[in-house]
Amino acid sequence: MIYARIAGTGSYLPGDPVTNADLVSRGIETSDDWIVERTGIRSRHLAGPDIGSSELARLASERAISAAGLVPDDIDLIIVATSTPDYIFPSTATLLQAKLGIVNGCAAFDVQAVCSGFIYGLTVAEKFIRSGSHRRALVVGAEVFSRILDWSDRGTCVLFGDGAGAVVLEASDKPGILASALHADGSHHPILCVPGGVAAGQVVGDPFLRMDGQAVFKFAVKVLGDVALEVAEAGRMKLGDLDWLIPHQANVRILQATAKRLGLAMDRVITTVDRHGNTSAASIPLALDLAVRDGRIGRGQRVLLEGVGGGFTWGAALLEF
Ligand code: ACO
Repeated sequence: MIYARIAGTGSYLPGDPVTNADLVSRGIETSDDWIVERTGIRSRHLAGPDIGSSELARLASERAISAAGLVPDDIDLIIVATSTPDYIFPSTATLLQAKLGIVNGCAAFDVQAVCSGFIYGLTVAEKFIRSGSHRRALVVGAEVFSRILDWSDRGTCVLFGDGAGAVVLEASDKPGILASALHADGSHHPILCVPGGVAAGQVVGDPFLRMDGQAVFKFAVKVLGDVALEVAEAGRMKLGDLDWLIPHQANVRILQATAKRLGLAMDRVITTVDRHGNTSAASIPLALDLAVRDGRIGRGQRVLLEGVGGGFTWGAALLEF
């Protein structure tokens, strides 16, 4: 039996933390009290103008590859989840391959599932590895969401941050990913979208993130609960036997409502949204790496990763770390 097992994790956050007070001093009509009470967010990281998703991805990936005890050319599949690619094309994954100096000709492609992107990428990589066609996949979530925010819209701009997280997923005879599930329902696309594009050298439509916050909140809590129960059942594990839950980090109230529905105490939920804001596809691997490096997550522990994002898309992966 071939399992896909996480061999190493890495992450990268650009620059110094930008606090809620910093946003106020930059002229945004908000307050630390409002943001903390509604979202739990206290600070986030914002990339400077010269750094794109591929560069954040490189820095996170180098750490993950090194943590796995590998060198870049050992990687035989690269999947990058991002909604903020450097370019329309080529993909961020191919840019990352070049930046890492990988010359073995391995496959490299992006997945676009917004905040569920990392779960989508991880699940796709798992299928490649379990099929026997590939042995070492680099799966990355990397975002510069600050580039698609309307900084005059205080209802959205305070919520997001930039960053990247990466894992190396390796073929193993020891258990790794035990069960996974992916879902989408495109009929909900209007409640969270960037409804614009580029044509004939012009921006067509609206190039900024637009959101119906309350609709997103309700949807997120429902599907994060549903999909956690689904993968726990598929992996024949009781939620009470989980060591850690790592949900997509959108809002601490979404994390609390999800934990409550699943009957889990918040001390088993890895929480980074207070320091990172919502980093979309990067949020889950960033939280995972943080908890691995600070010693909370160790080998053999049972971890459930789950995401929800624009589309709408959602999914989860249950693993033995
Ligand atoms: N600072 C101060 N006041 C604000 C701010 C702000 N940053 N933003 C909005 N307000 C005001 C509004 O103008 C409104 O004022 P009014 O009553 O005078 O009209 C008031 O606060 C309430 O606004 P609502 O939008 O109704 O506030 P709500 O309680 O719904 O909270 C929030 C908004 C935090 C966005 C909430 O709906 C939420 O968390 N939704 C989930 C969205 C989310 O997490 N999205 C992330 C992307 S999706 C994903 O990752 C899955």
